[in-house]
Amino acid sequence: MGEEVDTAFVQAPEHRPKSSVIVAEGIPLIDLSPINYQNEDTLLDSSIENLVKEIGSACKKWGFFQVINHKVPLDKRERIEEAAKKFFALGLEEKLKVRRDAVNVLGYFEAEHTKNVRDWKEIYDFNVQEPTFIPPSDEPDDEENVQFQWDNRWPQNPPEFKEACQEYAQEVEKLAYKLMELVALSLGLVPNRFRGYFTHNTSNIRLNHYPACPYPHLALGLGRHKDTGVFTVLAQDDTGGLEVRRKSDGEWIRVKPIFNSFIINVGDMIQVWSNDAYESVEHRVMVNSEKDRFSIPFFLKPALYTDVKPLEELLDDRNPPIYRPVN
Ligand code: SIN
Ligand code: FE2
Repeated sequence: MGEEVDTAFVQAPEHRPKSSVIVAEGIPLIDLSPINYQNEDTLLDSSIENLVKEIGSACKKWGFFQVINHKVPLDKRERIEEAAKKFFALGLEEKLKVRRDAVNVLGYFEAEHTKNVRDWKEIYDFNVQEPTFIPPSDEPDDEENVQFQWDNRWPQNPPEFKEACQEYAQEVEKLAYKLMELVALSLGLVPNRFRGYFTHNTSNIRLNHYPACPYPHLALGLGRHKDTGVFTVLAQDDTGGLEVRRKSDGEWIRVKPIFNSFIINVGDMIQVWSNDAYESVEHRVMVNSEKDRFSIPFFLKPALYTDVKPLEELLDDRNPPIYRPVN
């Protein structure tokens, strides 16, 4: 990635970052102190009740919120962040040993595109559960009859990489399930309403490295998109660069980094389950010319071939299903 502008990275004028950034209003900040990982928060004390309300209104108004006091141990987060930095600092040849390709779905990739424009980033993907559970598909094989490989592709270096990733994944998964209970409650559902969808899940974690970019006014680290899964639990570093599309007026709003917080956003599946009560919202990532940025999203996803459709309990004559089942 040299000094000359590579047109593959150049955004159409209307999608380029604006030089003026709106910082006045941020996405809601929610304190998760009242949560308890030992049991479902079925006995609603008033602190949980308030928390549920805050989450419900953040999901409605923004589709995004930031959480603190989430109980994910900081040392586990720092360990994966360090491992990610060491991995991305390796030579390209070494990283290409675990590169994603036409057969392997997971691993390293340096040529991500969003809406046909190249993103200024490199990534590494792994699944939270190893794929022993994948049920045989009753879909016809595609034309080329490709059998995709869903195995995690762990690099040899740094040596602690795999363990750091797996330990972190376990902790964030716990937080994701707790958030799922709170989201269920906020929709007026029983807290474990969604639990069954995740026994065999396809959740994955992505390590993102956005190198400093010589033309941050033309390129994006990650182009505008919505997340397709249930929801995302994102750890961003202190560089900043994530922007969220404000529902009220379509303006791009920068999400200010807060130490040891996570950013949560609604994905397409919650939008379908909730029949549009909560919507999946566009977001994108700016780059800058001075500093590399690292981020680690956890994408909560159900088992393969789960039917996703508006939940019966939320439907009635005045609120008919907007979506047909998809899987
Ligand atoms: C994502 O939207 O998947 C990543 C966002 C980020 O890097 O902040
Ligand atoms: Fe995203």
